[in-house]
Amino acid sequence: MTIPLHSLEDTRALAQKLAQTLPEGNLVLLTGPMGAGKTTLVKFLAEALGFRGEVTSPTYTLIHEYPTEHGLIVHIDAYRMADQEELYSLGLEDYLPEARLVLVEWGDPRVFPGSLEIHLEPTQTGRTATLRSHGAIFPLERFAGKESPG
Ligand SMILES: Nc1ncnc2c1ncn2[C@@H]1O[C@H](COP(=O)(O)OP(=O)(O)OP(=O)(O)O)[C@@H](O)[C@H]1O
Ligand SMILES: [Mg+2]
Repeated sequence: MTIPLHSLEDTRALAQKLAQTLPEGNLVLLTGPMGAGKTTLVKFLAEALGFRGEVTSPTYTLIHEYPTEHGLIVHIDAYRMADQEELYSLGLEDYLPEARLVLVEWGDPRVFPGSLEIHLEPTQTGRTATLRSHGAIFPLERFAGKESPG
């Protein structure tokens, strides 16, 4: 399913909807080319879940943690990782049952079955977000309509 994001406000609205819909402990892969808006979506998701601190790309530190009243948001940037399987040995699976959300920029669906992929793509007028479930339990149908009833 593809959702047009004409502006940052649309991205913020998508993040709010995702914050209400994504199950506890969900693994979310953010894909799409450089500058597509992956970190921006993480920022709005953290904001929607009540995090008030700074959200920046963990390009060098690999992992950032954002505590919220709903649980921990774990933000990973796999851009520089030659082998994303390493994330398993770094304890990614230990995070999953405890974290509210684990978000992996550049995450590879082949390495992470059981994830929801949000693919961001720049267009002439903004961005599009395509949601794909890779075996994750996620109510995609709630995103089917242009506006959800609530
Ligand atoms: N929906 C949108 N509409 C307009 N501009 C956007 C949108 N989403 C993101 N941007 C802008 O695009 C730029 C790059 O965004 P961002 O850093 O989030 O991309 P990224 O995919 O994380 O990049 P990288 O691949 O380097 O990690 C930012 O200036 C951001 O404000
Ligand atoms: Mg980024």
